[in-house]
Amino acid sequence: MSSAVLCAPVTDSAPATSAPAAGAVPLLPVVGADTLVPLVAGGTARYVDLDTAASSRALESVAARVAEALPLYASVHRGAGYLSQVSTALYEDARATVAGFVGARADDVCVLVRHTTDALNLLAGCVPDGGAVLVLDCEHHADLLPWQQRGPVTVLPTAPTVVETLRALGAELVAARYALVAVTGASNVTGEALPLDEVVQLAHAAGARVLVDGAQLVPHRRFSLAASGADYVAFSGHKTHAPFGSGALVGRRDWLDAAPAYLAGGGAVQEVTVEETSWAAAPHRHEGGSPNVLGAVALAAACEALAALPAGALADHERALRERLVAGLGALPGVRVLRIWADSAEPTGVVSFTVAGADPGLVAAYLSAEHGIGVRDGRFCAHPLLARLGVPAGALRASVGVGCTLDDVDRLLTALDAFLSAGPQVAYARVEGRWQPADDPRAAELAAAVRGAGCGPAER
Ligand code: ALA
Repeated sequence: MSSAVLCAPVTDSAPATSAPAAGAVPLLPVVGADTLVPLVAGGTARYVDLDTAASSRALESVAARVAEALPLYASVHRGAGYLSQVSTALYEDARATVAGFVGARADDVCVLVRHTTDALNLLAGCVPDGGAVLVLDCEHHADLLPWQQRGPVTVLPTAPTVVETLRALGAELVAARYALVAVTGASNVTGEALPLDEVVQLAHAAGARVLVDGAQLVPHRRFSLAASGADYVAFSGHKTHAPFGSGALVGRRDWLDAAPAYLAGGGAVQEVTVEETSWAAAPHRHEGGSPNVLGAVALAAACEALAALPAGALADHERALRERLVAGLGALPGVRVLRIWADSAEPTGVVSFTVAGADPGLVAAYLSAEHGIGVRDGRFCAHPLLARLGVPAGALRASVGVGCTLDDVDRLLTALDAFLSAGPQVAYARVEGRWQPADDPRAAELAAAVRGAGCGPAER
């Protein structure tokens, strides 16, 4: 690969005693950072995880907290036993930590859910009857389909600039009455967002509330409901380095208290007779069934670790990685980086791109099989946006987080450069819609790895 694509090693000119440059080392340690994966041509490589926008590895501090909580695990909200009391306290303390992490106001409610999709389906059932919802066509399906299913919803076309998009949003909010504007905090395709304060101002002036889809924002930037004025935020633990099955919906109490229970069942009620049920107030109203205490503990531990970072450190780390990635991709012939808006500011570390003449699925399979690099390809659960960006057949996406380094970015750029100059070194075929090496000797190793993790068929 040409040296123009890669920047000089970041430590070259730095004095030996100075702190590492932003992005040179992981900002926080993640579990499995040194995992080796087999390559199709033989040998192994350290796995480069550039798919953190889909799911991010557990922080070491999260895994340690879960291990500490496991011996204390017992029923939550239900048992008289000592460990039931401990588990209940762990769960409710975690709820308070998660609420604090997103700057909840004193009267906001934090409902612990499975993930962002769950949170937004829950909220869709809480928007008062007949209240219309306004979204843009750049949303992830999680912030589109629950509103479509509920109705009425207006899906506003995204304009080519932030300025024009805000103008269109403002005009629509004047032209019709909306209960809720549901907006991404950071696109899962490009990392871009509209300026939230302006969206909140426009919506509130028109009497509408604002939901922030925080799935790609909260793990990457400081966010506060109180400071932003937004009414609700939803986010996922599995994208926040806490892949233990919990996420959150945090925001205004009134709609959540008035709505039907999202998960009807034990724990969501005050009193039940065979004729009728009186429901508990939120959050318990929407958390029927035994809560996921370990998921909540993990999510809270991740929130604590991210909140403890020095101000600006997370943004600096990801900015360094994104800048290196975008500059490197821009120097590769035929590579186009996707943007929603020409004038958006400070995207997060999510970068989607196309390689002229190459099927994204083939490139992704090559990166994995020949270089041990994990990226995502396809339409990223954002079909309308990919169509708007002129790539209805899909693209590639690299996304970074606290566990990624400049070296990871360089590994991707080097591999792409080799793809463009020499092409794949083995044959690939499409099997059930996915590209994969036509002859893959790693199948046995994959099966052994799954068995080693305790997931495979029992040995006979
Ligand atoms: N929503 C996740 C993504 O964008 C899965 O990859």
